[in-house]
Amino acid sequence: MDQSKTPLFDAMVSLAESRKVSFHTPGHKSGKGISTRFRKFVGPRVFSIDLTCLDEVDSLQKPRGVIKESQELAAEIYGADQSYFLVNGTSGGNQAMVVASLNPGEPVLVTRNVHKSVISGMIMTGCQPVFIPFRTEHGASFPLNYGTRDILDSIDRHSEIRTLYLTSPNYYGVTIDLVRVAEAAHAKGMRVLLDEAHGPHLHFHPELPSSGMAAGIDLAVQSTHKIIGGMTQASMLHARKERIDLDRLSTVLRYLQTTSPSYILMASLDLARMQMATEGVKLLGRALELARWARMKIREIPGLRCANRTEIQAMSGGENDLDETKLTIDVRGWGVSGYQVSQRLNLEFGIQVEMADIDHVLVIVSIGDHRGDLERLVNALVALSRENHRQASRSPVPSMVFFDNLLRMTPREAFFAQHETVPLEDSTGRIASDIVTVYPPGVPLLVPGEEITAPVIDTLCRFRDSGATMDGLDMTNRFIQVVKDHGSGK
Ligand SMILES: Cc1ncc(COP(=O)(O)O)c(C=O)c1O
Repeated sequence: MDQSKTPLFDAMVSLAESRKVSFHTPGHKSGKGISTRFRKFVGPRVFSIDLTCLDEVDSLQKPRGVIKESQELAAEIYGADQSYFLVNGTSGGNQAMVVASLNPGEPVLVTRNVHKSVISGMIMTGCQPVFIPFRTEHGASFPLNYGTRDILDSIDRHSEIRTLYLTSPNYYGVTIDLVRVAEAAHAKGMRVLLDEAHGPHLHFHPELPSSGMAAGIDLAVQSTHKIIGGMTQASMLHARKERIDLDRLSTVLRYLQTTSPSYILMASLDLARMQMATEGVKLLGRALELARWARMKIREIPGLRCANRTEIQAMSGGENDLDETKLTIDVRGWGVSGYQVSQRLNLEFGIQVEMADIDHVLVIVSIGDHRGDLERLVNALVALSRENHRQASRSPVPSMVFFDNLLRMTPREAFFAQHETVPLEDSTGRIASDIVTVYPPGVPLLVPGEEITAPVIDTLCRFRDSGATMDGLDMTNRFIQVVKDHGSGK
């Protein structure tokens, strides 16, 4: 296929230029009814391609025309049998993957560092998660990803389970050895599902870790909008048909996705795929160069650390790799929190980072960055480093840890059980009924059905008190929802 083609976008432009009279949705009628302020700011043209399902531009619910062709181009370049455009991000994709692949009560072998959308998919289906234990004793200040041996051991121990669910890269850009894991899982008759939200670009540059599809994964979802040219919410799902029921997957996507998908979001997927296929190596090569330069400069700044690829590989005993476009800057040497550094970068230097946690700020370098942007970041960090920071001791324990909590009910049972709200500090021994995360990265510290322990409460309090955004507690972040009359001693 000709990867320079953009069938969906071309059809949208040609329909917009034909200036047909619209008596259909959207109600703004090519922008004529839109607020003047909005039109003045963004210009009139964008509204002319805010379309709905029409013969000329096909339908995402049942693609037979230009959307089908655009999805086929994506499938070809990513090496999938079928690719799907998603308009509710990778969150929607994770939910669809779970609902399409697992039946009520069916076990799934899953890493504990999953995004909360995987857990919400489990609540929808009633499947039974079997979490793979997560080791943290590798000496990194942030969570690396799962080691190959830990996953292979779990595959051996649970060889009756038919589905393995992984996340790679994680938020910090750390990847799993997907080639070895997929080989081992397939040998046991397991299919492998992958949350690759942070990896839509990996397929397009040889110096990046392997992509899921290249590694033989059966189903992988990617946030095209996070790293390459998709607009916010635009993701893609890639499937291989050998172990995945594509008919059931298409049905689930029809159920879970809106019947009014944004054509602007879908066009951005069409164009992002074309851009990666035709210029990916050049654009990503430049992003890698910038990221390497910035990492080198940041490592020279007193008090800061920023692990490089070789160090991550060494710390993980060669079992993890790093996407070098992610810079995780460890600020513990300044005796301040990542949240404080993030806030100062924003308010004093006009620099917004992807995320902060207690010990780090995380920077994404992408095809949209220029040398000047990275110079501005480095100069701001140099300026902050000139202040008299007290020399803080570095804790050997990563601030963000995922606990191997005891799962006493399935997420679905706990979610639908009667619940009550109790003070967080008094909840030891109770069973969580909501997903509790620190956001970002949005990885659950508690999954519905899990027993709440003192170390989890301590961690939640520590993050809350240091200014993290908490998700799954009440508005004051002091109360938690638990299953009623379960584990309360009543
Ligand atoms: C690992 C992971 N999966 C899924 C998601 C959700 O992706 P989206 O924002 O595209 O819905 C995120 C978001 O941060 C994530 O980090």
